[in-house]
Amino acid sequence: MLGSGFLGTRADAFVDSAMVLLVAAPFLMAYAIRLARQRRYRRHRNFQVTLLVGGIVAVLLLEGSIRFGSAQEAFALSSATGPWRAWLFYGHLVVAFATAIAWFTLVVLSWRRFTLTLPGSFGGPHRRTGALTFVGLFLTSASGTALYIVSFAL
Ligand code: HEM
Repeated sequence: MLGSGFLGTRADAFVDSAMVLLVAAPFLMAYAIRLARQRRYRRHRNFQVTLLVGGIVAVLLLEGSIRFGSAQEAFALSSATGPWRAWLFYGHLVVAFATAIAWFTLVVLSWRRFTLTLPGSFGGPHRRTGALTFVGLFLTSASGTALYIVSFAL
């Protein structure tokens, strides 16, 4: 399974597929937010929910690689050593976990309040939490990409 992915690194197809989703996610979320700016709220909602499902699929793909693929073996073969690698790994995990919680909570609350208080009194908190979640997703994507290169390309 080692190196059987499609991005030309030591990663397997599970990790490479997760990587494609991770890189695309902030761009897709920027588009979803643009839909809200254009007041196409139903499309905005549907796009956001689909994106969250995509995020869950990406995590399952990584889990699939750890359990059934070669993630751990390929990770151990990296020539990058030193404490900064562990810092990058744990930093990425913390940002990804915090973003996932904010993202999931926002989607559940927003789904329930849609057309009741959103648009409306929930609009302000929704916009602020949405903007923070977007920043979190961007950082998750950037740190995940760096981690991918360090773990599977070096
Ligand atoms: C079930 C899911 C969602 C629903 C029903 C929904 C609905 C809405 C609505 C109705 C607005 C307009 C609010 C107003 O002007 O008062 C809005 C704006 C916005 N939403 Fe969502 N949303 C959802 C998920 C998300 C998620 C997951 C994010 C980001 C992670 C997000 C980010 C934003 C942002 C940043 C705006 C403000 C756009 C602007 O600058 O005008 N939304 N959303």
